[in-house]
Amino acid sequence: MRAFVGVDLPGDAKDVLAAFIDRLRAAAPEAKWVPRDNLHLTLAFLGEVGEERAAEIGDALRVAASGLPGPIPTQVHGAGAFPSARRARVVWAGLLDGEGRLAALAHRMRATLEPIGFPPESRSWKPHLTLARFRTPGDASTLVTASPEEVSFIVSDVTLFRSRLARPAPTYEPMGRFPIGG
Ligand code: 2AM
Repeated sequence: MRAFVGVDLPGDAKDVLAAFIDRLRAAAPEAKWVPRDNLHLTLAFLGEVGEERAAEIGDALRVAASGLPGPIPTQVHGAGAFPSARRARVVWAGLLDGEGRLAALAHRMRATLEPIGFPPESRSWKPHLTLARFRTPGDASTLVTASPEEVSFIVSDVTLFRSRLARPAPTYEPMGRFPIGG
């Protein structure tokens, strides 16, 4: 199975992001805009994993998440593009992480996965909620001058997701949820 570790978003945050996507979509109809239900924060990408490993991975994530200080407040904030606004492959909404607790969460999850066979990712982690992907890099510099509504929410657990590739969009199935903090 294809799997990743992420944070499922509360419904009001998904609503705000879906409304933002609706504002932007007409400016880049060729992009693949993420359906509301697929919006999430990725912490670590696992790639292909044997299904028989789901329990072992879940156990490692449970222990790591429970050892963290507790739920993490954040807020949707601004928009941007990777690798650059002029040659965008991904358009995203940002998340405030003033105290670095979301980054610490991602690093903790990645550090937990490394000894059980998932090599460190080369890309550094930056909190972002992917809104759209471009098949060929596009100019998103006007798009990312807009901003979504600044909805606040609390990250209280991490989720092991199974991703099934499908058209027009993949489906993400939660395989386990692990509370942050004891
Ligand atoms: P991103 O959209 O947050 O950047 C599920 O596919 C998630 O895993 C995606 O949302 C994506 O994160 C991340 N992902 C997909 N393919 C990836 C890859 N090859 N390397 C790293 N992360 C990947």
